Amino acid sequence: MSSELLKRVECKLEEIPGLGTFIVVPKGLEQVIPDTTAISGVDPKGEQTLYRGYTIEDLGMNADFYEAAYLISRGVLPCDEEYKEFKKKIDYWRGRVPEKVYDALKTLPKTHPMYYGAYGALLLGQIYAPEWSFDKDSLYEHQIRLSAQLPVIFAAAYNLANHGTFVRPDSGVDHAWDLLRMITMREPTKLEARAFESSLVLYMDHGFNASCFTVRVVASTLSDMYSAIAAGIGALKGPLHGGANEEAMKMFLDAYKKAVEKGVPLEEYIVDYIKERLARKERIMGFGHRVYKIKDPRTDVAAYFIRQLKDGEMWIKVLKNAEKVMWESKKLPSNIDLYTAVLYYQLGIDIPLYTPIFAMGRVVGWTSHYIEQVLDNRLIRPTEKYVGPVGLKYQPMEVRCRR
Ligand SMILES: CC(C)(COP(=O)(O)OP(=O)(O)OC[C@H]1O[C@@H](n2cnc3c(N)ncnc32)[C@H](O)[C@@H]1OP(=O)(O)O)[C@@H](O)C(=O)NCCC(=O)NCCS
Repeated sequence: MSSELLKRVECKLEEIPGLGTFIVVPKGLEQVIPDTTAISGVDPKGEQTLYRGYTIEDLGMNADFYEAAYLISRGVLPCDEEYKEFKKKIDYWRGRVPEKVYDALKTLPKTHPMYYGAYGALLLGQIYAPEWSFDKDSLYEHQIRLSAQLPVIFAAAYNLANHGTFVRPDSGVDHAWDLLRMITMREPTKLEARAFESSLVLYMDHGFNASCFTVRVVASTLSDMYSAIAAGIGALKGPLHGGANEEAMKMFLDAYKKAVEKGVPLEEYIVDYIKERLARKERIMGFGHRVYKIKDPRTDVAAYFIRQLKDGEMWIKVLKNAEKVMWESKKLPSNIDLYTAVLYYQLGIDIPLYTPIFAMGRVVGWTSHYIEQVLDNRLIRPTEKYVGPVGLKYQPMEVRCRR
């Protein structure tokens, strides 16, 4: 197996004269383990994805935001006093975004809201961390405050730019309920808030994915947490990562428009629609995963809530038919982004906020990875294999540009 793997991923030892022996790993770092983590990952038997020992499905179904966030940050589920204290702090800080941050958000142009999050994280850094310390307790305080306030910034900035107004947070209510209220600017039902909360738990962490690794690279330089999270937001924005949930919903809406024109129900038409896109060699967003090759276990939890929300049975049929055709054509499973796209649509959330919501959950994982990295740090700095030209000599412009 190991030589087969080495051949497939083109991993080899290479001598670079004057520098020594290097391990050449595959492009995209596929199958490469650059470090250990105790936060989340696939269990040693390769059967389940765990947050600190618990399966994501178990937590997605049963844990609330505070329990899951405490677990990911501290390593154990909280007991009574720990829970109360943690909840109190998250709720307190959610309601205390500095007024000068809101003032700054009011000046922003209408653009992709992931920019607002990166901008907001850096603003918070300037306010709360002009000097940075690696004291563990202070890292936890920054983590709680950033996890509580980043979501408010996304919701406020988006609604200011798009609707000219925003809803202020309320420290007296639960985090997920309050965030959904700020996002949609209406009071959610209990079921809607729980479905939204569960999606935050499902998104909270996921091993060394691209944005987590970005955060760890920045942390490894001993930069501050706010700078690392701003970089992570940039990585998450891309359509091959968090941006996939937005693209998946745009695809469903495009398919729906065409299905109506043809007078065919979406759940039937989605099959031909995907086949046509595959024939044009297009990527179908919400399918495929670097780690999950058979099934993304998070999709079952999201499906549980989708079924209970508006047009639930119809959406489940659409999802299942899309999955069937993708499996038959490409042997690719769906991933969580396909499901949250539908879930957020059912909750009446504007599409540009789908990836920011991913970040509202993931900020807990990112900040936990930041802490894990800096508390046992080694600079992450791979070596390149230079394949450009050699031996060129500088010439002044009048010489090098002479024709
Ligand atoms: C997630 C993703 C980036 C993982 O990619 P990866 O491990 O680097 O795999 P590759 O991009 O090398 O793809 C391998 C093959 O599967 C195909 N493939 C992968 N995902 C595909 C998709 N969503 N639709 C169509 N084909 C896909 C590629 O075209 C490639 O085919 P080829 O070997 O014939 O060229 C990829 O599956 C993807 O782009 N998915 C869509 C975006 C998405 O949903 N992202 C969220 C992830 S949680």
